Amino acid sequence: MDKIVEISGLSKAYTQGHEQILVLEGLDFHISKGEFVSIVGPSGSGKSTFLNIIGLLDDVYSGEVRLFGKRLEDLDEARKAVLRLKNIGFVFQFDSLLPEFTVLENIEMPARVLGGAKAGRGLELLRRFGLEDIAKKFPMEISGGEKQRAALLRALRNAPALLIADEPTGNLDRHNSGAVMDDLRRAADGGTAVLMVTHNEEAARRADRILKMAGGKLFKEGTK
Ligand SMILES: Nc1ncnc2c1ncn2[C@@H]1O[C@H](COP(=O)(O)OP(=O)(O)O)[C@@H](O)[C@H]1O
Ligand SMILES: [Mg+2]
Repeated sequence: MDKIVEISGLSKAYTQGHEQILVLEGLDFHISKGEFVSIVGPSGSGKSTFLNIIGLLDDVYSGEVRLFGKRLEDLDEARKAVLRLKNIGFVFQFDSLLPEFTVLENIEMPARVLGGAKAGRGLELLRRFGLEDIAKKFPMEISGGEKQRAALLRALRNAPALLIADEPTGNLDRHNSGAVMDDLRRAADGGTAVLMVTHNEEAARRADRILKMAGGKLFKEGTK
């Protein structure tokens, strides 16, 4: 199996004043190529903290985290920055499209940052996901659901091995949530490992595996 993420004994504490708050406590986890995993759990249980560590946005923790077979502790900042840009895509609850650029330009942005990436893939992505009609529109001209789907395609632009989505449908109605879930499912079927945190049970059930975050650990909630 192609393991994209492998974690063992992950712990993380925040310091608040003189107090240490243990958020993650000896947690184990793995996700493979093309697997769609959703994580549910109460607010404040450490879901975002966990995603941020995997997404290389936070490196203060103990335990072992391997991305693409490499121990994060062995990678320097430059290597991590490249990994983040090339191999990891992020989607958050609130869309972050740049208002002064069209949808297509927004989607092409990560490729420009990377430089030398293949042109034309943005339009190809929009077509594959049935969104070519909004390619030339500006964010203010499209719906909330379309914005979130465009942000998702932007996250997929560099064909990342891992897509991390933190409550991607938190702001959407049922219809648009369904469309975003279809997109995530399609990304996973195309070989991307998709790791999603959600409060939406219906959305969680679209994954191959559901895990529940509680007491600083992840528990098996259900398997398809
Ligand atoms: N930067 C921070 N400093 C201190 N405490 C934090 C910080 N970020 C999150 N926390 C605390 O860690 C716990 C987990 O937060 P978070 O990972 O955001 O949970 P979730 O995403 O499951 O709602 C919460 O108690 C939160 O208050
Ligand atoms: Mg959160």
